[in-house]
Amino acid sequence: MDQEKVIVIDFGGQYNQLVARRVRECNVYCEIYSYRTDIEQIKAMNPKGIILTGGPNSCYEENSPTYTKELFELGIPVLGLCYGAQLMMHVLGGKVEKAPVREYGKTDVYVNADSPLFEGVGTSVDRNDIPVLDVAPEMKEDHKSDDHHTVCWMSHFDYISKVAPGFSVVAHTADCPVATAQNREKNLYAIQFHPEVLHTQEGSRMLHNFVRGVCGCAGTWRMDSFVESAIHEIREKVGNGKVLLALSGGVDSSVLAALLAKAIGKQLTCVFVDHGLLRKNEGDEVEGVFGKNGSFDINFVRVNAQERYYAKLAGVTEPEQKRKIIGEEFIRVFEEEAKKIGTVDFLAQGTIYPDVVESGLGGESAVIKSHHNVGGLPDYVDFKEIIEPLRNLFKDEVRKAGLELGLPDYLVYRQPFPGPGLGIRIIGEVTAEKVRIVQDADFIYREEVEGAAAAYKEEHGEDPSWMPNQYFAALTNMRSVGVMGDERTYDYAVAVRAVRTVDFMTAEAAEIPFEVLQTVMSRIINEVRGVNRVFYDLTSKPPGTIEFE
Ligand code: XMP
Repeated sequence: MDQEKVIVIDFGGQYNQLVARRVRECNVYCEIYSYRTDIEQIKAMNPKGIILTGGPNSCYEENSPTYTKELFELGIPVLGLCYGAQLMMHVLGGKVEKAPVREYGKTDVYVNADSPLFEGVGTSVDRNDIPVLDVAPEMKEDHKSDDHHTVCWMSHFDYISKVAPGFSVVAHTADCPVATAQNREKNLYAIQFHPEVLHTQEGSRMLHNFVRGVCGCAGTWRMDSFVESAIHEIREKVGNGKVLLALSGGVDSSVLAALLAKAIGKQLTCVFVDHGLLRKNEGDEVEGVFGKNGSFDINFVRVNAQERYYAKLAGVTEPEQKRKIIGEEFIRVFEEEAKKIGTVDFLAQGTIYPDVVESGLGGESAVIKSHHNVGGLPDYVDFKEIIEPLRNLFKDEVRKAGLELGLPDYLVYRQPFPGPGLGIRIIGEVTAEKVRIVQDADFIYREEVEGAAAAYKEEHGEDPSWMPNQYFAALTNMRSVGVMGDERTYDYAVAVRAVRTVDFMTAEAAEIPFEVLQTVMSRIINEVRGVNRVFYDLTSKPPGTIEFE
C-alpha cells in the first residue's frame, strides 16, 4: 500500500493499540511493530514519523527493551511516550531513575504552548499558580515558559531527572520536572504522560500536532479511500478466480462480504450456516441483506443446520463439550458445502488488525491467530490462498468501512456475539424449546434497553451513562415454583445481563434503570411461555465471565 504512514514501536505497554488508533483518528495510517524489529526494516517502510510506546520495564536495567541510537539519527521525527520517552532520554545521554513520588491518575500539567506539540493546547494561567519545583536552575528557567494548564494521565514509577543534551523541558507537573522534553531541531519529543488515553484532556490534539504538524502527514487515511483501494487490490489479486467466505453475520464477516461483493460480485460465494443458536430473526436478517433479495449480486448459500446441531447437542451438558461440538459441527457443515462448490482459488477471512497484533507482541510474530469463529477452517477447504482484506483495520474502522459500503446500521453496530451463539447462554442441555425461550426473552430485553437508551439520547443528546457495551438474556437451568393467575407454575428462570467494558477483559454490571428492568421482567414473564422468574446478573468480570459458559 503506497500510503503515508507512522510506525508505532511497541515496548510492551498496555496502550500500544490505543496509540495506533488515535493516530488513525488523525487520518494517518499507522502500524505497530515490536521493539525487536530491525532498524533496516523500519527504514525500508519509509515512515513519516515514529512513536515509541510505554512499557512495564525500567530502561536503566540490564536486558530491558531498548532500541539503537541510530533510530534518533534518521532525520525522521520521533515521539516517545512514557517508557518510550524515558528510553529516548536514556539512549541519548539523559538520566532516568526511580521517581521520588509515583504519579498515577489525572494530573495537572503545565505546558509551553510554543512547543509544536502543544500548539493550541491548554489555557493560560497566572504564573503564581504554577508549581515551582526544586530542580536544577536551567530547568527552573524552562519551567517559566510552561504557562498553559491542561490535564494529563500519568502512570509511572521512573522519571526523567535530567534531559539529554540538546533537549529542553516543555511541560512539568507538581511532581514531575520533565513531563515533556523536546529537541526541536532534530524533531525528537519525549512525553512522560499518556496522550493516547482519553483522560488526557487534550491528548488527541497533541498527537494530531505530532503526526500532522511535526511529521507533516497530509491525513489521507480515510475509509472511503480505503474501500476504493481495497476493491482495486482485491480485483488485481483475484483476477477471474473464485472466492469462498464463511459468513457468520457478525460485523467483520459482513463487512468483508460487502467489500468482496463490490469488488468481484458473482465470483464470491458466501456460505452462511444457521446453526439454530442465533438470536431471534438473525438468520433472516443476514439472508435479507446478502441473499437473493438483498442488495449484493453474489452467490449466497444459507445452510439450515438447526436440526443437525440440536441432534448433536442432545443430552450434552458440559460447557466445553458443547463448545467443541458446535465448533466441529460448523467445520463439518462448511466442508460439505465447500465440496459442492469444488475447488476455489481463495478463502477469505475476516481477520482484523487487533488479531494480527495480538498474535505476537506488536506484530513481532508472523503467526496469525486463526479467526476464532472459523478456527481450523483452512484445513478442510480446497483452496490456493487465504485473503484477508480487513487485516489492517481496527474494529471502529471496519464499522466505518461497512457504512461506506452501504450496510445497514443494525449490522454495522451489532454487539459482540460469540461463535457458539446461544449454545453458551443456555445452561445445561440445549433443546429447540430452550432456544425459543432464550431467543424470545433476549429479543424483549434488547428491545426495551435499546428503546430506553434511544429515548435518553433523544432527550439529552448523548448515550446514558449506563449504556451497556454488551447485553443479553441467558437461560438458567433452574426451575422454580410460581403463580400465574390461579395456576401454580413450575418454570424456568431467565437471567438478564448487561456489562460496561472497554476491552471485554474486565467488566462491570451496567446500572440499567430499575423501571426498565421491571418492564423487561413483566414482559418476559407475560410473553414468553415457560418462564416465571427473571434475575438480573450483578457479577463483574472477574470473577464472572461475560458469557455464562
Ligand atoms: P467472556 O465470557 O470470556 O467473554 O467474558 C468475553 C467476550 O468474548 C465473547 N466470547 C466469544 N466470542 N467465540 C467468540 O467469538 C467464543 O467462543 C466466545 N466466548 C466469549 C463474549 O461474547 C464477550 O464479548
